[in-house]
Amino acid sequence: MRLIFLGAPGSGKGTQAVYLAENYGIPQISTGDILRKAVQDGSELGQKAQVIMSNGGLVPDDIIIELVRERLTLPDAGKGFILDGFPRTIAQAESLDAMLGSGKAIQMVLFFDVSEAEIIKRLTSRRTCSQCGKNYNVISDPPPASGLCVQCGGKIVQREDDTETTVRKRLQVYEEKTAPLKAFYNVQKKLYILHAEQAVERVRAEMDALLAQL
Ligand code: AP5
Repeated sequence: MRLIFLGAPGSGKGTQAVYLAENYGIPQISTGDILRKAVQDGSELGQKAQVIMSNGGLVPDDIIIELVRERLTLPDAGKGFILDGFPRTIAQAESLDAMLGSGKAIQMVLFFDVSEAEIIKRLTSRRTCSQCGKNYNVISDPPPASGLCVQCGGKIVQREDDTETTVRKRLQVYEEKTAPLKAFYNVQKKLYILHAEQAVERVRAEMDALLAQL
């Protein structure tokens, strides 16, 4: 399975990608997670990315494309992958097509359809483990009272870019740079709409039904 999860920030891509990766045995490749790890490690890339990410902008295409190219050469990506948060611009999508060629082309692009009001609610109530990245939500999936992650014991925090001001900026950037990808993949007849404003389990069931077509 070679899939792309496309959607606005907070539309639930990461939540469903974790489930899919566990149940279908293919890696979730999240460019956001890779960048956050680089920030945590204090690498040159991390230092560059941190400022951009905390302002809600996009990291330059050439950096992201190289990062994904390298990640896709790792053995676990040989049997398939879920690209979560990549591509985010037309230039990234065109480079991905060239990278994969016709033999390993993307099979399906799932578009996570969620209203702006719901996104703002979800993101401002999201909390994340600073160590392993597990997501919680103070409304729908509250973190333990200890403030420590159930998975790894790490400290649960609010992501720097999950404040309302930065979320609105991310949504603006999404509309401008990423939303045009819907038309790009529609032309390729790969775009499938997921009604992602439903409860997590219902989104999952709809996604499983779509994937059964592959
Ligand atoms: P990234 O980490 O990719 O952020 P994003 O796309 O903005 O996605 P999110 O992680 O915010 O949301 P999600 O859709 O995964 O939702 P989630 O499942 O967590 O990128 C961060 C930054 O890195 C970017 O802003 C950019 O700077 C940079 N970057 C990354 N990739 C890049 C690229 N390709 N090019 C350039 N720059 C790049 O869910 C959100 C919340 O809602 C959670 O609390 C969850 O519990 C809850 N939730 C999920 N589903 C439901 C549901 N069905 N009902 C109720 N609550 C739900």
